[in-house]
Amino acid sequence: MDGAADGVAGTAGEGGSEAAVDAYADRVVAAVLGFAETASIVVGDALGWYAALAAAGSGGLAPAELAAGTGTQERYAREWLEQQAMAGFVELVPGAHRFRLPEGAAEALVHEGSLTALMPMVRMLRAGVANMPELLAAYRNGGGVPWALLGADARESQADGNRPWFEQRLAAALASVGPVHKVLSRPGAQITDLGCGCGWSTLALARAYPGAALTGIDVDGPSIGQARENARALGLEGRAAFRLADAAGPVAPGSQDAVFIFEALHDMPFPVQVLAAVRAMVKPDGVVVVMDEAVADTFSPGGAGPDGARDGGDVLERLMYAYSLFVCLPDSLSTPGSAGTGTLMRPPVLERYAAEAGYAAVEKLPIEDFSVFRFYRLHP
Ligand SMILES: C[S@@+](CC[C@H](N)C(=O)[O-])C[C@H]1O[C@@H](n2cnc3c(N)ncnc32)[C@H](O)[C@@H]1O
Repeated sequence: MDGAADGVAGTAGEGGSEAAVDAYADRVVAAVLGFAETASIVVGDALGWYAALAAAGSGGLAPAELAAGTGTQERYAREWLEQQAMAGFVELVPGAHRFRLPEGAAEALVHEGSLTALMPMVRMLRAGVANMPELLAAYRNGGGVPWALLGADARESQADGNRPWFEQRLAAALASVGPVHKVLSRPGAQITDLGCGCGWSTLALARAYPGAALTGIDVDGPSIGQARENARALGLEGRAAFRLADAAGPVAPGSQDAVFIFEALHDMPFPVQVLAAVRAMVKPDGVVVVMDEAVADTFSPGGAGPDGARDGGDVLERLMYAYSLFVCLPDSLSTPGSAGTGTLMRPPVLERYAAEAGYAAVEKLPIEDFSVFRFYRLHP
């Protein structure tokens, strides 16, 4: 788009050259579109419209059919379908006023077990921004918005987002790291999963290592309740126990062959205390593995390119800052005295936490292409 809005010429003035104003305005318009179109995805998800379109296949649906099949209103359905076609999320069936999902769409928007399922990401941000008054109050006055207040949407989207990776890729990823795999394969290995959420990582470990006894620990009651149900549904309740407790809470010293923290250390208000407790609970020849976001070592935002266009920086980092603003940082800061890590726990930050907790070294494990994550082994 040429300028902030068609027909509105950029104005040079205090704000900079006309080209600079136009380029900056274009960047803002792109963000507005992103926001509005994300909200339109929320609508299509919540009303079952994407699922209905996926079920209809290449013949697609007319607005009246979409509305009738989902118990919704035709006029809204028509507007949404037209907007979705404009945005490129659906396409017109040639020669008919019918709409269908393009190739690849169902994998991203509908198939929950897919490694490219993106709806959990949308639902998580929806859960975060739904608390805007509380967020603004915390930004002004301190404090935060606890995980419990973020509610079922956040809890479930967190679980749904990581579940396919744990179920389909975790066993192979860990098997590829010989020294870790060897410890996990010990007969009767005791393995603890701290900040386990709804337990999908714990249960994936239980299936990958049939000789091991698993304990998942989390401070969130509904998550532990759900984890127990998931264990029962998979027939794993005898091998995977779930406890409602703080990660720094009592686990017998020197009792664990392995301790994992999957995408949870940056949420924990007292990461150094937790890592110190982990160091105490693991056996001298045990392993400690932290999985967290694969962010860069240093903060290095993009900026204006030579033509004035602004890319703003790496996509992963932009996404992680979005989660941090609306979910992880306010959750962490809801506990007084919190370290306030935020979603982007950069490697030097983890190294500092580990050193303060008494670890000798932090090693990046050679596990690549595991969603947005990096695996670290902390050497006691
Ligand atoms: C982003 S979720 C990750 C859940 C799960 N590990 C996964 O990968 O889907 C972070 C989890 O850490 C838990 N958590 C935060 N602080 C904790 C603490 N101090 N002790 C135990 N669990 C904690 C939260 O309740 C939440 O379930």
